[in-house]
Amino acid sequence: MNEYPSASIASIVSDASASVYQASGPAPRATLSAMEPYVPGRSISDIRGEFGLTRVVKLASNENPLGPSPLALAAVRAMLEDIHRYPDDRASELRRKLAGKLALDESMLIAANGADELITLLSETYLEPGDRIATFAPTFSEYAFGGRLMNAETNRAPLGEDFALRADDLLAAVDARTKLVFVCSPNNPTGTYMPRDELERLLARLPAGCLLVLDAAYSHFADAPDYCDGFDVLRAGARLVVLQTFSKAYGLAGIRAGFAAGPADVIASMLRVKEPFNVNALAQTAASAALDDEAHLAATLRTNAAGRIRLREGLARLGISSVPSQSNFVLADFGDRAASVYRLWMESGVIVRSGAGWGLPGHLRISVGTAEEIDLLLALLDDILRRDA
Ligand SMILES: Cc1ncc(COP(=O)(O)O)c(C=O)c1O
Repeated sequence: MNEYPSASIASIVSDASASVYQASGPAPRATLSAMEPYVPGRSISDIRGEFGLTRVVKLASNENPLGPSPLALAAVRAMLEDIHRYPDDRASELRRKLAGKLALDESMLIAANGADELITLLSETYLEPGDRIATFAPTFSEYAFGGRLMNAETNRAPLGEDFALRADDLLAAVDARTKLVFVCSPNNPTGTYMPRDELERLLARLPAGCLLVLDAAYSHFADAPDYCDGFDVLRAGARLVVLQTFSKAYGLAGIRAGFAAGPADVIASMLRVKEPFNVNALAQTAASAALDDEAHLAATLRTNAAGRIRLREGLARLGISSVPSQSNFVLADFGDRAASVYRLWMESGVIVRSGAGWGLPGHLRISVGTAEEIDLLLALLDDILRRDA
């Protein structure tokens, strides 16, 4: 029998002095008030609704303009019937395949719910309150987020001239309390990278108590001969962790999958903090199939390499300079017109990312789309700049 007929609950709840509920719970951890929430790119449905548009082109989150790998899609469809089962807690098949491709032992690999989770796992694994992380500025915001989450501080080394990532600048931001050093290469949002000799110099000079994390989320798009994705130095015995994602080159941002490669003892420690079923079954299947989809990856890289040139040359013709990019986005300098171009593009259905959040209010970061998307963006820009002149 119900002990508390609903009528009497209603009367108790409406009488605050006799509430059956606690007046207040615990306060959230103090560090939360200092945490800047991640600001994602505006969504297509948002912009469609706000401006009453039928077609919206999103070039704000560095997603794959060709869509997901078709092999991944087919594999996901085929396994839908099995989602009543828990996923493999170690993502064994995915890790086995990665180990073969990268010539690394499986004990050197951990799969995650996107590279974002890997940054959190590293922070939870290594950072005590008062510890420090070191990274460049501007760069991907999640490193500082992970640090803040654990009550650690972030030391930021400014990028050099032309947004260069120089080892000595970063070493100057490392002190006795620094545990994690994050290098994003190619760097988000600049598209510049740390050349191999600088990376090796950094590895050689980091104090023993520091771990280098090379976020190589955009490595597939880099074609400079002196670019280094970290895997060969890891194979040669260097102590670093390489982060990778399936969100960019493989077109799987929505399903969430990434992995880290590092020394076996580092990976073993990270496994101790991860939730058992962090990578869902569909994500494991999709990532694993995408690794076999060489045609999709090749088309993606071809489209990006050609698109990067098309976009930079098109911008230059309109008098807009941009940073040479090794990634799937381009950082362009609009000076004091940046905010109005951002808004007018958006009102016409093209979403890009403002540089303001990185302290670059005169810059916009534009993901490399298809040739057609780039031409649309450039035609709109031509129009905007003429009206503005
Ligand atoms: C440099 C960098 N690292 C990591 C990530 C996160 O990747 P994921 O989608 O795998 O969480 C991003 C996403 O934009 C990124 O730009």
